[in-house]
Amino acid sequence: MTPAPTLTIRGVKVWQEALDRAEQEALVADLRSVAAAAPLFSPETRWGKKMSVRMTSAGRFGWYSDRRGYRYEPRHPSGVAWPPIPDRVLRLWHRLAGTERAPDCCLVNFYAEGARMGLHQDRDEADFSFPVLSVSLGDDGLFRIGNTEPGGSTESLWLRSGDVVLMGGDARLVHHGVDRIRHGSSTLLPEGGRINLTLRVVT
Ligand code: SIN
Ligand code: MN
Repeated sequence: MTPAPTLTIRGVKVWQEALDRAEQEALVADLRSVAAAAPLFSPETRWGKKMSVRMTSAGRFGWYSDRRGYRYEPRHPSGVAWPPIPDRVLRLWHRLAGTERAPDCCLVNFYAEGARMGLHQDRDEADFSFPVLSVSLGDDGLFRIGNTEPGGSTESLWLRSGDVVLMGGDARLVHHGVDRIRHGSSTLLPEGGRINLTLRVVT
């Protein structure tokens, strides 16, 4: 059985403090190995502007963006295959995502001071019946949740290190984004900053 979320906002489930400090530290160590094999890069939007968030991926597919648009790629821009999704991350997916199917992609977003992510939908995947699971590590991030349709009112909450968010069912295609981070609010990453992992079934 999936544990009950501590909060549900517009159908988006939030498990606050789902991961204790030791689990968070172990995840960061796993992610350092991922970033060593597939270094962080700053993708360009379709309009040719560099994103403020740096990213990389693990899994069969990595999320990628440039002037040709948003898509999944089987390789890192350097040509190497994406490293496998760490077991610890897969265990978390199976604990909370409520599906037997394993994710194909673990996107790793890194928010340094001043980085943000505009309101968007996750819709580059083939089958929206699978949920999106997202894990916050490090500094607090102000997460904004809108609607499935563009526009309308939004609600925001601060995501803290160890919080896990699920966008599934009627909330699978809600608009969401990160307005800002509170740099230095967590001691998890010695240099500060926020990591977000986004797990998705792609094909
Ligand atoms: C994303 O939507 O790709 C990232 C969300 C987050 O950083 O919490
Ligand atoms: Mn997203």
